[in-house]
Amino acid sequence: MKNIAVLASGSGSNLQAIMEAVERGDIRGGRVSLVISDRKNAYALERARGKGIPALHFSALKYSSREEYDRALVTYLEKRQIDLVVLAGFMRLLTPYFVLCFHQRILNIHPALLPSFPGVRGVEDALNYGVKVTGCTVHFVDEGMDTGPIILQEAVPVYDNDTTETLHQRIHAVEHRLYPRAIHLVLNDKVTIKGRRCIIDED
Ligand code: GAR
Repeated sequence: MKNIAVLASGSGSNLQAIMEAVERGDIRGGRVSLVISDRKNAYALERARGKGIPALHFSALKYSSREEYDRALVTYLEKRQIDLVVLAGFMRLLTPYFVLCFHQRILNIHPALLPSFPGVRGVEDALNYGVKVTGCTVHFVDEGMDTGPIILQEAVPVYDNDTTETLHQRIHAVEHRLYPRAIHLVLNDKVTIKGRRCIIDED
């Protein structure tokens, strides 16, 4: 059984979907063993505690640089024997040190069809640009900002009367299905990285 750590900064609805997918048996071979947030009041921490999963606020204030923070985080994750790191609305860019330590063992979900609209305002930027179709992307994390190999993507239409909130709501619904699926595939060695491409061996 592999140990998953979920890192989240906000509400944690993706975390919730992942925990429920583990309970249902839709994610096999792994369990959420730890949830970490850089924000003390992140609702994600409460969601984890509600399921009896250890949840920790990891404050950046105690560290003088991003790398120092990441080094402490890596030490902690290794002590807990974490196999897979899942970013679910974690709003910090990981340093190359972290990415190297968990090489090809970090996943991220982004609320747009990458490589379009990377960064922290993926939904708003797509809406303001005027695209008719956006979506969400699950990808491996590399040193760049939302640049790693893409595992799964799904399109979401943009409606004329959409606001950032209504569009994000529909993207969230797709994310809650897509992320557990991607995690299951990675945990069960169904994803092979070939250059920039991820080849999926569906089961
Ligand atoms: C999700 O929509 C995720 O795609 C996005 O934050 C939201 C977190 O929601 N991530 C990013 O924008 C990363 N650049 P949640 O806390 O309810 O899971």
